[in-house]
Amino acid sequence: MPKYKIAWLPGDGVGVDVMEAAGIVLDKLNLDAEYIQGDIGWEFWKTEANPFPDRTKELLRQTDCALFGAITSLPKQEAEAALIPELQGKGHIYVSPIVRLRQEFNLRTNMRPCKAYPGNPLNYRDGIDIVVFRENTEGLYSGVEFYPFPDEVREAVKKHNSKMARFDHHPADEIAVTLRINTKTGCRDIVTDAFEYAQKTGRKSVTVVEKPNVMRETSGLMVRTAREVAESYPGIELWETNIDAMCMWLIKNPTDYSILVTSNMFGDIVSDLCAQLVGGLGFASSGNIGDDYAVFEPTHGSAPKYAGRYKVNPIAMLLSTKMMLGWLGETDMGDRLENAIADVIREEKVRTYDMGGSNSSLEVAEAVAARL
Ligand code: IPM
Ligand code: MG
Repeated sequence: MPKYKIAWLPGDGVGVDVMEAAGIVLDKLNLDAEYIQGDIGWEFWKTEANPFPDRTKELLRQTDCALFGAITSLPKQEAEAALIPELQGKGHIYVSPIVRLRQEFNLRTNMRPCKAYPGNPLNYRDGIDIVVFRENTEGLYSGVEFYPFPDEVREAVKKHNSKMARFDHHPADEIAVTLRINTKTGCRDIVTDAFEYAQKTGRKSVTVVEKPNVMRETSGLMVRTAREVAESYPGIELWETNIDAMCMWLIKNPTDYSILVTSNMFGDIVSDLCAQLVGGLGFASSGNIGDDYAVFEPTHGSAPKYAGRYKVNPIAMLLSTKMMLGWLGETDMGDRLENAIADVIREEKVRTYDMGGSNSSLEVAEAVAARL
């Protein structure tokens, strides 16, 4: 029996292309694993009105972890229009399967390393090495939303918070509400993961990125919790920065920062910014990590216009594969893979279009595999 069972979830668009690239390096590394293909993505939305079918959930339960490509996500109306005619008008609502997967499997930590590999012509500056820890299941992406805004909910809110009265003259169908739900556990877990990682890797600071001067309760809870957690890590400094200022500082002095920890939506936004500092989404890997399951995926989307053309940079996917190996405990293999990727970047020979080259996704993967 192979040592690991890995769910293989290409999804759609360029997810399929970059997963093939991951397959090339995993074959070369000879990881002792069985890969089991799972159905997820736009195809299954169109034909089953469910982009994350139950059989796929079952597959995840039977595997050690999953490697995931990308999935197309469209807003509500566009998604409904894409359903096969038999499924239209039945009230099916598209919810991003990756957001569901993170919540249903409690993959509470989204870890997104952004490192400027030497020789990458797309680096904004040399020496950038930031890891974003994004809370992955709560906050503004909890999915608790209202439209039209029910009178009962409005009354209840008004009873407990007089600020709601300001909206009295807006009819129910002219107000949309999304709740930002942060829990103490959620805040404590994400901050602890950030500090644990800092300690393990010898990093000196953790920056909590929020907006407690305006969102006193939700951002306040995150910052207060960060202060409590920080007390157990005397060797590591806790810095506190507001999200708006953080975006400015990251452009001005990106090498000052090491680890950022933040809530779900701020993390979504700031991790794209950090990705661009090190070459864009083609270099941004991520791990969705829970207590006993994890899903590794490049941060980029499905880029439908490039689907099947093997044009996009597979490095984000290969770095996600490296993270997976580390999480499985195959750290040596993971380090070998990262070194091979860094070599290919430094050698300036085999490059996809974003880096000024004309090689395909698979040629980049072959070049990495050749160095393993
Ligand atoms: C990401 C993506 C997703 C998110 C989308 C595709 C739902 O932007 O992983 O950062 O918002 O989390
Ligand atoms: Mg995003």
